[in-house]
Amino acid sequence: MLKHLIEDGSTVLLYSLKGKSWLVKVVSKNEFHTHFGVVKFSDIVGKRYGDVVQTNLGQELILLEPLLVDYLMKSERRTQIVYPKDIGIIILETGIGPGSMVIEAGTGSGVLTTAIANFVRPTGKVYSYEIRPEFIEIAERNLKKAGLQDYVVIKNKDASQGFDETEADAVLIDVGAPWSLVKPAFNALKGGGALAAILPTINQAEKLAVELKKAGFVKVHTIELLCRSIEAREGMSRPSTRMIAHTAYLMFARKSFLKVNTSCKEYPCEGSELA
Ligand SMILES: C[S@@+](CC[C@H](N)C(=O)[O-])C[C@H]1O[C@@H](n2cnc3c(N)ncnc32)[C@H](O)[C@@H]1O
Repeated sequence: MLKHLIEDGSTVLLYSLKGKSWLVKVVSKNEFHTHFGVVKFSDIVGKRYGDVVQTNLGQELILLEPLLVDYLMKSERRTQIVYPKDIGIIILETGIGPGSMVIEAGTGSGVLTTAIANFVRPTGKVYSYEIRPEFIEIAERNLKKAGLQDYVVIKNKDASQGFDETEADAVLIDVGAPWSLVKPAFNALKGGGALAAILPTINQAEKLAVELKKAGFVKVHTIELLCRSIEAREGMSRPSTRMIAHTAYLMFARKSFLKVNTSCKEYPCEGSELA
Protein backbone atom coordinates (compact mmCIF):
# COMPACT_ATOMS: atom_id res chain seq x y z
CA MET A 1 0.00 0.00 0.00
CA LEU A 2 1.33 3.44 -0.84
CA LYS A 3 1.40 5.79 2.13
CA HIS A 4 0.06 9.05 0.81
CA LEU A 5 1.33 11.63 3.29
CA ILE A 6 5.00 12.54 3.44
CA GLU A 7 6.53 12.55 6.92
CA ASP A 8 9.82 13.53 8.50
CA GLY A 9 12.06 10.54 7.56
CA SER A 10 10.12 9.53 4.42
CA THR A 11 12.03 8.81 1.23
CA VAL A 12 10.84 10.80 -1.77
CA LEU A 13 11.67 10.87 -5.46
CA LEU A 14 11.88 14.55 -6.48
CA TYR A 15 11.00 14.54 -10.16
CA SER A 16 11.52 17.41 -12.59
CA LEU A 17 9.68 17.54 -15.93
CA LYS A 18 13.09 18.39 -17.39
CA GLY A 19 13.98 14.71 -16.97
CA LYS A 20 16.04 14.85 -13.77
CA SER A 21 15.17 13.12 -10.51
CA TRP A 22 16.67 12.74 -7.04
CA LEU A 23 16.02 10.16 -4.35
CA VAL A 24 16.07 12.00 -1.02
CA LYS A 25 15.37 11.28 2.61
CA VAL A 26 13.24 14.04 4.14
CA VAL A 27 14.78 15.61 7.26
CA SER A 28 12.53 18.55 8.09
CA LYS A 29 15.28 20.84 9.44
CA ASN A 30 17.41 20.38 6.27
CA GLU A 31 17.20 21.52 2.67
CA PHE A 32 18.18 19.91 -0.64
CA HIS A 33 20.21 21.69 -3.33
CA THR A 34 19.65 21.00 -7.04
CA HIS A 35 20.67 23.01 -10.08
CA PHE A 36 16.98 23.98 -10.34
CA GLY A 37 17.24 25.65 -6.91
CA VAL A 38 16.84 24.73 -3.25
CA VAL A 39 13.97 22.72 -1.74
CA LYS A 40 13.20 23.13 1.96
CA PHE A 41 12.20 19.75 3.41
CA SER A 42 9.87 21.53 5.83
CA ASP A 43 7.83 22.50 2.72
CA ILE A 44 7.45 18.81 1.84
CA VAL A 45 6.40 17.34 5.20
CA GLY A 46 2.59 16.87 5.27
CA LYS A 47 2.23 16.97 1.47
CA ARG A 48 0.80 14.02 -0.47
CA TYR A 49 2.83 11.91 -2.86
CA GLY A 50 1.94 13.37 -6.24
CA ASP A 51 1.97 16.95 -4.92
CA VAL A 52 4.26 19.61 -6.36
CA VAL A 53 6.87 21.67 -4.51
CA GLN A 54 8.61 24.82 -5.74
CA THR A 55 12.34 25.49 -5.42
CA ASN A 56 13.54 28.93 -4.36
CA LEU A 57 14.04 29.60 -8.12
CA GLY A 58 10.38 28.85 -8.82
CA GLN A 59 11.01 25.49 -10.51
CA GLU A 60 8.39 22.81 -9.92
CA LEU A 61 9.34 19.38 -8.64
CA ILE A 62 6.84 16.53 -8.30
CA LEU A 63 6.93 14.44 -5.10
CA LEU A 64 6.76 10.74 -6.00
CA GLU A 65 6.88 7.71 -3.72
CA PRO A 66 9.94 5.71 -4.80
CA LEU A 67 9.38 2.33 -6.43
CA LEU A 68 11.84 -0.57 -6.30
CA VAL A 69 13.22 0.46 -9.70
CA ASP A 70 14.02 3.96 -8.35
CA TYR A 71 16.07 2.46 -5.51
CA LEU A 72 17.88 0.23 -8.00
CA MET A 73 18.71 2.96 -10.49
CA LYS A 74 19.71 5.45 -7.75
CA SER A 75 21.95 2.90 -6.01
CA GLU A 76 25.50 3.82 -5.19
CA ARG A 77 27.59 1.95 -7.81
CA ARG A 78 31.18 0.85 -7.77
CA THR A 79 30.77 -2.21 -10.02
CA GLN A 80 28.87 -3.05 -13.16
CA ILE A 81 25.27 -3.67 -12.11
CA VAL A 82 22.38 -5.79 -13.34
CA TYR A 83 19.78 -3.60 -15.06
CA PRO A 84 16.00 -3.73 -14.53
CA LYS A 85 15.27 -5.21 -17.96
CA ASP A 86 17.48 -8.20 -17.12
CA ILE A 87 16.26 -8.51 -13.51
CA GLY A 88 12.65 -8.92 -14.67
CA ILE A 89 13.39 -11.96 -16.78
CA ILE A 90 15.76 -13.44 -14.16
CA ILE A 91 12.86 -13.45 -11.71
CA LEU A 92 10.52 -15.20 -14.15
CA GLU A 93 13.07 -17.76 -15.33
CA THR A 94 14.13 -18.74 -11.80
CA GLY A 95 10.66 -18.67 -10.23
CA ILE A 96 11.92 -16.53 -7.35
CA GLY A 97 9.06 -15.37 -5.15
CA PRO A 98 7.95 -14.98 -1.54
CA GLY A 99 9.73 -17.56 0.63
CA SER A 100 12.45 -18.47 -1.90
CA MET A 101 15.93 -19.30 -0.67
CA VAL A 102 18.36 -17.75 -3.12
CA ILE A 103 22.15 -17.84 -3.32
CA GLU A 104 23.96 -15.09 -5.18
CA ALA A 105 27.63 -15.05 -6.19
CA GLY A 106 29.09 -11.60 -6.76
CA THR A 107 27.22 -9.12 -4.56
CA GLY A 108 29.04 -6.18 -6.17
CA SER A 109 27.05 -3.00 -5.55
CA GLY A 110 24.09 -5.09 -4.42
CA VAL A 111 21.66 -3.96 -7.10
CA LEU A 112 20.51 -7.46 -8.07
CA THR A 113 20.62 -8.40 -4.36
CA THR A 114 18.23 -5.53 -3.54
CA ALA A 115 15.80 -6.53 -6.26
CA ILE A 116 15.79 -10.20 -5.27
CA ALA A 117 15.40 -9.32 -1.57
CA ASN A 118 12.22 -7.47 -2.48
CA PHE A 119 10.72 -10.55 -4.13
CA VAL A 120 11.67 -13.20 -1.52
CA ARG A 121 10.16 -11.33 1.40
CA PRO A 122 8.57 -11.80 3.87
CA THR A 123 9.82 -15.34 4.60
CA GLY A 124 12.64 -15.93 2.08
CA LYS A 125 16.32 -15.07 2.22
CA VAL A 126 19.16 -14.15 -0.11
CA TYR A 127 22.65 -15.45 0.77
CA SER A 128 25.08 -13.32 -1.18
CA TYR A 129 28.82 -14.03 -1.57
CA GLU A 130 31.41 -11.31 -2.25
CA ILE A 131 35.20 -11.46 -2.08
CA ARG A 132 35.81 -7.70 -1.80
CA PRO A 133 34.84 -6.14 1.55
CA GLU A 134 34.69 -2.60 0.11
CA PHE A 135 31.82 -3.68 -2.18
CA ILE A 136 30.00 -5.32 0.72
CA GLU A 137 29.86 -1.95 2.48
CA ILE A 138 28.32 -0.32 -0.59
CA ALA A 139 25.81 -3.16 -1.06
CA GLU A 140 24.80 -2.92 2.59
CA ARG A 141 24.19 0.83 2.26
CA ASN A 142 22.07 0.28 -0.87
CA LEU A 143 20.03 -2.45 0.82
CA LYS A 144 19.46 -0.32 3.88
CA LYS A 145 18.29 2.64 1.79
CA ALA A 146 15.66 0.37 0.22
CA GLY A 147 14.70 -1.05 3.64
CA LEU A 148 15.48 -4.62 2.49
CA GLN A 149 18.55 -5.47 4.61
CA ASP A 150 16.63 -7.99 6.78
CA TYR A 151 16.16 -10.35 3.85
CA VAL A 152 19.86 -10.65 2.96
CA VAL A 153 22.95 -12.26 4.49
CA ILE A 154 26.17 -11.11 2.81
CA LYS A 155 29.23 -13.33 3.22
CA ASN A 156 32.78 -12.19 2.59
CA LYS A 157 33.75 -15.49 0.94
CA ASP A 158 35.04 -16.81 -2.36
CA ALA A 159 32.06 -18.59 -3.91
CA SER A 160 34.29 -20.91 -5.95
CA GLN A 161 35.21 -22.58 -2.63
CA GLY A 162 31.59 -23.68 -2.23
CA PHE A 163 28.40 -22.33 -0.68
CA ASP A 164 27.40 -23.01 2.94
CA GLU A 165 23.73 -23.48 2.02
CA THR A 166 21.98 -26.48 0.46
CA GLU A 167 18.52 -27.07 -1.04
CA ALA A 168 18.48 -23.57 -2.55
CA ASP A 169 15.64 -22.67 -4.90
CA ALA A 170 17.92 -20.61 -7.12
CA VAL A 171 21.57 -19.67 -7.60
CA LEU A 172 22.42 -16.40 -9.35
CA ILE A 173 25.94 -15.93 -10.72
CA ASP A 174 27.47 -12.58 -11.69
CA VAL A 175 31.26 -13.08 -11.52
CA GLY A 176 34.03 -13.04 -14.13
CA ALA A 177 34.67 -16.82 -14.04
CA PRO A 178 31.16 -18.31 -13.74
CA TRP A 179 32.31 -21.81 -14.80
CA SER A 180 34.26 -22.04 -11.52
CA LEU A 181 30.90 -21.95 -9.71
CA VAL A 182 29.13 -24.75 -11.57
CA LYS A 183 30.03 -27.43 -9.04
CA PRO A 184 29.30 -25.24 -5.99
CA ALA A 185 25.97 -24.22 -7.55
CA PHE A 186 25.05 -27.84 -8.33
CA ASN A 187 25.80 -28.89 -4.74
CA ALA A 188 23.82 -26.00 -3.26
CA LEU A 189 20.68 -26.31 -5.40
CA LYS A 190 17.72 -28.54 -4.72
CA GLY A 191 16.82 -31.00 -7.52
CA GLY A 192 15.22 -28.94 -10.30
CA GLY A 193 16.53 -25.71 -8.78
CA ALA A 194 17.20 -22.83 -11.14
CA LEU A 195 20.48 -21.24 -12.10
CA ALA A 196 20.85 -17.85 -13.75
CA ALA A 197 24.13 -16.33 -14.91
CA ILE A 198 24.79 -12.76 -15.98
CA LEU A 199 27.50 -12.81 -18.64
CA PRO A 200 28.96 -9.66 -20.20
CA THR A 201 30.84 -11.57 -22.95
CA ILE A 202 29.89 -14.33 -25.38
CA ASN A 203 33.09 -16.21 -24.52
CA GLN A 204 31.82 -16.61 -20.97
CA ALA A 205 28.49 -17.89 -22.32
CA GLU A 206 30.17 -20.54 -24.47
CA LYS A 207 32.40 -21.85 -21.71
CA LEU A 208 29.65 -21.83 -19.09
CA ALA A 209 27.14 -23.69 -21.29
CA VAL A 210 29.60 -26.55 -21.82
CA GLU A 211 30.32 -26.85 -18.09
CA LEU A 212 26.65 -26.66 -17.08
CA LYS A 213 25.72 -29.51 -19.41
CA LYS A 214 28.64 -31.64 -18.23
CA ALA A 215 27.42 -31.20 -14.66
CA GLY A 216 23.88 -32.39 -15.52
CA PHE A 217 22.09 -29.07 -15.81
CA VAL A 218 19.24 -29.12 -18.35
CA LYS A 219 17.12 -26.48 -20.09
CA VAL A 220 20.35 -24.57 -20.64
CA HIS A 221 19.42 -21.53 -22.72
CA THR A 222 20.81 -18.10 -23.30
CA ILE A 223 19.21 -14.82 -24.28
CA GLU A 224 20.06 -11.18 -24.69
CA LEU A 225 17.39 -8.56 -24.13
CA LEU A 226 17.55 -5.30 -26.06
CA CYS A 227 15.55 -2.41 -24.71
CA ARG A 228 14.79 0.43 -27.11
CA SER A 229 13.11 3.60 -25.87
CA ILE A 230 10.35 5.07 -27.99
CA GLU A 231 9.79 8.81 -27.99
CA ALA A 232 6.00 8.87 -28.23
CA ARG A 233 4.84 12.42 -29.03
CA GLU A 234 1.93 13.69 -31.01
CA GLY A 235 2.72 13.54 -34.72
CA MET A 236 6.43 12.74 -34.28
CA SER A 237 6.77 9.40 -32.50
CA ARG A 238 9.91 7.42 -33.21
CA PRO A 239 12.57 5.30 -31.49
CA SER A 240 15.21 7.21 -29.57
CA THR A 241 18.37 7.78 -31.57
CA ARG A 242 20.60 6.37 -28.84
CA MET A 243 20.31 3.13 -26.91
CA ILE A 244 22.39 0.96 -24.63
CA ALA A 245 23.12 -1.82 -27.08
CA HIS A 246 24.47 -4.38 -24.63
CA THR A 247 24.29 -5.10 -20.93
CA ALA A 248 24.78 -8.87 -20.60
CA TYR A 249 23.87 -12.26 -21.99
CA LEU A 250 21.64 -14.17 -19.60
CA MET A 251 21.98 -17.93 -19.24
CA PHE A 252 19.42 -20.07 -17.45
CA ALA A 253 19.47 -23.75 -16.47
CA ARG A 254 17.83 -26.26 -14.11
CA LYS A 255 19.60 -28.82 -11.94
CA SER A 256 18.93 -32.44 -12.87
CA PHE A 257 20.43 -35.75 -11.78
CA LEU A 258 20.89 -36.79 -15.42
CA LYS A 259 24.25 -38.56 -15.86
CA VAL A 260 26.03 -36.77 -18.71
CA ASN A 261 29.53 -35.94 -19.66
CA THR A 262 29.15 -34.73 -23.20
CA SER A 263 30.23 -31.79 -25.28
CA CYS A 264 27.96 -29.02 -26.46
CA LYS A 265 27.68 -30.67 -29.91
CA GLU A 266 26.26 -33.95 -28.56
CA TYR A 267 23.86 -32.22 -26.21
CA PRO A 268 22.44 -29.29 -28.15
CA CYS A 269 21.55 -25.96 -26.62
CA GLU A 270 17.85 -25.55 -26.09
CA GLY A 271 15.98 -22.59 -27.46
CA SER A 272 14.31 -20.08 -25.25
CA GLU A 273 10.61 -20.58 -24.53
CA LEU A 274 10.17 -16.88 -23.96
CA ALA A 275 8.90 -15.97 -27.40
C1 LIG B 1 29.71 -7.37 -11.77
S1 LIG B 1 29.89 -7.40 -10.03
C2 LIG B 1 28.29 -7.89 -9.47
C3 LIG B 1 27.28 -6.78 -9.59
C4 LIG B 1 25.97 -7.08 -8.93
N1 LIG B 1 25.28 -8.19 -9.57
C5 LIG B 1 25.05 -5.86 -8.91
O1 LIG B 1 23.96 -5.89 -9.56
O2 LIG B 1 25.39 -4.87 -8.25
C6 LIG B 1 30.83 -8.86 -9.77
C7 LIG B 1 31.29 -9.04 -8.32
O3 LIG B 1 31.68 -10.38 -8.13
C8 LIG B 1 32.72 -10.40 -7.17
N2 LIG B 1 33.38 -11.72 -7.32
C9 LIG B 1 34.17 -12.13 -8.34
N3 LIG B 1 34.54 -13.43 -8.16
C10 LIG B 1 33.96 -13.84 -6.99
C11 LIG B 1 33.95 -15.06 -6.27
N4 LIG B 1 34.62 -16.13 -6.71
N5 LIG B 1 33.25 -15.13 -5.10
C12 LIG B 1 32.56 -14.05 -4.66
N6 LIG B 1 32.54 -12.85 -5.29
C13 LIG B 1 33.21 -12.74 -6.46
C14 LIG B 1 33.56 -9.18 -7.56
O4 LIG B 1 34.39 -8.75 -6.49
C15 LIG B 1 32.47 -8.18 -7.93
O5 LIG B 1 32.12 -7.36 -6.85
